Amino acid sequence: MRHFTNVKDLGDLNIALKEAFEVKANRFGYKELGKNKTLIMIFFNSSLRTRLSTQKAAMNLGMNVMVLDINQGAWKLETERGVVMDGDKTEHLLEAIPVIGCYCDVIGVRSFARFENKADDYEEKIINQFIQYSGRPVFSMEAATRHPLQSFADLITIEEYKKTARPKVVLTWAPHPKSLPQAVANSFAEWMNETDYDFVITHPEGYELDPKFVGKARVEYDQRKAFEGADFIYAKNWSAYTDPNYGKVINTDRSWTVDAEKMALTNNAYFMHCLPVRRNMIVTDEVIESPQSIVIPEAANREISAQVVLKRILESL
Ligand code: CP
Repeated sequence: MRHFTNVKDLGDLNIALKEAFEVKANRFGYKELGKNKTLIMIFFNSSLRTRLSTQKAAMNLGMNVMVLDINQGAWKLETERGVVMDGDKTEHLLEAIPVIGCYCDVIGVRSFARFENKADDYEEKIINQFIQYSGRPVFSMEAATRHPLQSFADLITIEEYKKTARPKVVLTWAPHPKSLPQAVANSFAEWMNETDYDFVITHPEGYELDPKFVGKARVEYDQRKAFEGADFIYAKNWSAYTDPNYGKVINTDRSWTVDAEKMALTNNAYFMHCLPVRRNMIVTDEVIESPQSIVIPEAANREISAQVVLKRILESL
């Protein structure tokens, strides 16, 4: 595998899952693979889980790791070609990317949707420039439209906890005060569409996702109806995708918060969220602290998803 930005890059998911469980059982068994290899992780946005889990995965594989927070200590970067750089941006991405490529063997990039230009976001302009100009394998640590390391960890977690071969998995929108990208929801939907799970998406009117990510999912606007008989509830906020509201918060209706009364409609479902989560906006304290909440094992599996991806990239060098 050269680059990793979406589910297709991983190939057969059953094979990838088998590899994930092997890695989980023997995470230090591949330490020679990364010897004298360097990973640079580039963050345009904040992170806790992605930063730590990916670094841990790289260390498990024997890699050296460098982290660059673009907004804390690096030169301020211009990303548009043709701009007269007479403002506060000192360096252009088109020099920065190949320079970064000189110092490493693999590059991870986190670059969220900016909500300035929908086409730029949905064409993945930033991570695609890293792929084009770095000369190195590049993997997404959450890009504008997808968060594949998260989705892979989510899939691993569902496989570990599912009690039936074909569980009902519900992706539910939940309220949030700020404008968040659609990446986690898009990506989760994309990965669920690659399984044979019974997959349902529920959200208020106006929060429809890009149809290319919705795929064959059933969309249900009645959240309570969607929850009926669910085996997994995956909560996430996202801002509007549909024009003219792209990137906007159009609803903060707390009747969509995941609470115990709604979880009682499910088949004793497990509660999932990628974290960080705003308690009592997205989910009540009671639900996230309940025995059915698997947000911590879900986060722990981020190390495994990252290690499988890095292992495959190292094997292809
Ligand atoms: N879930 C996730 O990607 O967490 P961070 O934003 O903290 O990395």
